[in-house]
Amino acid sequence: MKKIIIETIKKFIFNNTPFGAPSYSYNLEPIQLSEIIVSIEKIKDLKGSICEIGVARGMTSRFICEHLEIQNYEEKLYCIDTFTSFEKEDIEFEIKNRKKNKKDLIGFSYNNFKKWKKNFAKFDFVKPIKTDVKKFDFKSISPIKLVILDVDLYKPTLIALNNLKECMVSGGIIMVDDVKDNNMWDGAYQAFNEFVKSNSYEYKIVGNKCGIINF
Ligand SMILES: C[S@@+](CC[C@H](N)C(=O)[O-])C[C@H]1O[C@@H](n2cnc3c(N)ncnc32)[C@H](O)[C@@H]1O
Repeated sequence: MKKIIIETIKKFIFNNTPFGAPSYSYNLEPIQLSEIIVSIEKIKDLKGSICEIGVARGMTSRFICEHLEIQNYEEKLYCIDTFTSFEKEDIEFEIKNRKKNKKDLIGFSYNNFKKWKKNFAKFDFVKPIKTDVKKFDFKSISPIKLVILDVDLYKPTLIALNNLKECMVSGGIIMVDDVKDNNMWDGAYQAFNEFVKSNSYEYKIVGNKCGIINF
């Protein structure tokens, strides 16, 4: 009886309100999400952790958790963020040196480290780290085999890439989001291009904005 009532309510809601309409809540394109899973599979026999840098409320982190849990993998997933939005000096750099507008660079201040950790508490392989990525010592979590770097701005992207390169295992992969010119977040694009050029790394672009480097 209870089930019939619930089904009737669901039917009413689906037919008469916008609540049943599916939405796409990911920041990354479908091709990027699929590339993450393909990469995890490709390097599943390598020793090392997975690291998402810039996690916001954790949509992509949660997506990765689902895969690691279903496959019963034992990798740790390090989730690095300030959990308070962008660093003041990174924003100032964008305004002074990259001609961006302060009002466009607002976001993610809703985040809360305590709440985030609570939301992921059931995944004991998730290791949240609250820090400015520019100051983080990646040696403390190395070896690293897969990185998803998504901090939008020039300075944290470039400094993270430079600090990560010594900690990547041979065969490891770094994926950078927002590798696309002429938009609010093209600091990541500039940093990625400078990094691959100065280190003579080969790279590929997947979809519209995902830069990938194989180590
Ligand atoms: C676009 S969001 C990440 C979205 C997430 N990867 C996803 O797919 O849902 C960018 C995140 O980078 C974080 N961030 C920006 N600058 C940072 C820094 N210097 N250190 C650590 N995190 C930073 C912000 O707090 C924000 O949560």
